[in-house]
Amino acid sequence: MKKALALTLAATMALGLAACSSSTPKTSEAGTSDGGDSATVANKDKPVVWFNRQPSNSTTGELDTAALNFNKDTYYVGFDANQGAELQGQMILDYIKANIDTIDKNGDGVIGYVLAIGDVGHNDSIARTRGVRSALGTAVKGADGNVDSEAVGTNTDGSSTHVQDGKLEVNGKTYTVRELASQEMKNSAGATWDAGTAGNALTTWASSFGDQIDVVASNNDGMGMSMFNSWSKANEVPTFGYDANSDAVAAIAEGYGGTISQHADVQAYLTLRVIRNALDGVNMDTGIGTADEAGNQLSSDVYKYVEEERSYYALNVAVTADNYKDFLDSKVTWKPVSNQLSKETSPEKNVWLNIYNSSDNFLGSTYRPLLEKYDDLLNLKVEYIAGDGQVESNITNRLGNPDAYDAFAFNMVKTDNAVSYTNLLK
Ligand code: BGC
Repeated sequence: MKKALALTLAATMALGLAACSSSTPKTSEAGTSDGGDSATVANKDKPVVWFNRQPSNSTTGELDTAALNFNKDTYYVGFDANQGAELQGQMILDYIKANIDTIDKNGDGVIGYVLAIGDVGHNDSIARTRGVRSALGTAVKGADGNVDSEAVGTNTDGSSTHVQDGKLEVNGKTYTVRELASQEMKNSAGATWDAGTAGNALTTWASSFGDQIDVVASNNDGMGMSMFNSWSKANEVPTFGYDANSDAVAAIAEGYGGTISQHADVQAYLTLRVIRNALDGVNMDTGIGTADEAGNQLSSDVYKYVEEERSYYALNVAVTADNYKDFLDSKVTWKPVSNQLSKETSPEKNVWLNIYNSSDNFLGSTYRPLLEKYDDLLNLKVEYIAGDGQVESNITNRLGNPDAYDAFAFNMVKTDNAVSYTNLLK
């Protein structure tokens, strides 16, 4: 099984390599001369990396292939949303089974959970909602054949059509599993994945049916920690998130149930590495699947490349009471790719990079600190811009002079909006 997976990955990589090397010559034309490239290369030909929010239709999830193929040096860097979502669901299910004697607080035979949804139009958020529902047996399929990922609002009576009551048999006893409530955590100004909104929602839910809440699940740690601090820690209700932010990992010692590392240390590296490779005019696999001169190389158990999606995906790892001590600092670069590049072969270049929302916990407290370490290692001078999480123009208005940069890394507010960025480069 493992071998088959390794072979598939190897085949995928080989395809990726073939495709990348055929485009290499053009890249070198654009990127060889030291300095001053930003002025001579047309903006439309400069490397573009989408990260964390994959250009896609926020209703159907369909990838925006035009944005992903904006030019020959365009890629997406994210993580494997489905693999991570399955892991998250499994982690929660394992916890419930292992703690079955104490988990059903009011002893009514119903294991009730509430779910914080980040953004109903974001593929990662949708995958996580589906992953939790599928593992807990509460998933129902919509007309399109996919698991329904809509919020239920309140469902204490089990009547919602977006979910069903699951059945769980442990030690010869059958329990019902019910999604008591779920909501998209969007604040009144429109920012999604909003931690404060999640903390308030849980307080409201708990004041009317707190004795029924046995598990709290969240699409991310930012919201998860806000819920943990506002209610579940004091009430000893296990809370599960996603991202492995340092504060969430530390909270596992205090009863936070667990989280998933989406290998931000690998993603942040890939985000800047693909830019570096495009600017150096080298094979795109350099320092990724193939060791570079400094010895940087990723192994196939931490990422995969899907050529037809022009996407690099980091792989996820579950972080629980069993292994959390290895994940306490989320800002440490991934050792196998932490070697300094030489300025001779990889001279300093200017990159413009934005983060969709300055108050996003994951991007602000984990991803950006990692990017800042990798930009030094890769000799990239990055200008970091953070938006308000609400409107694209708050970010795009600040890219007034694309001529001054050699490459761009974009994190959209809404995954449908890639053209707001690419239009600036035409
Ligand atoms: C992270 C969330 C974050 C979101 C932003 C997701 O991958 O898990 O924590 O808020 O990205 O786009």
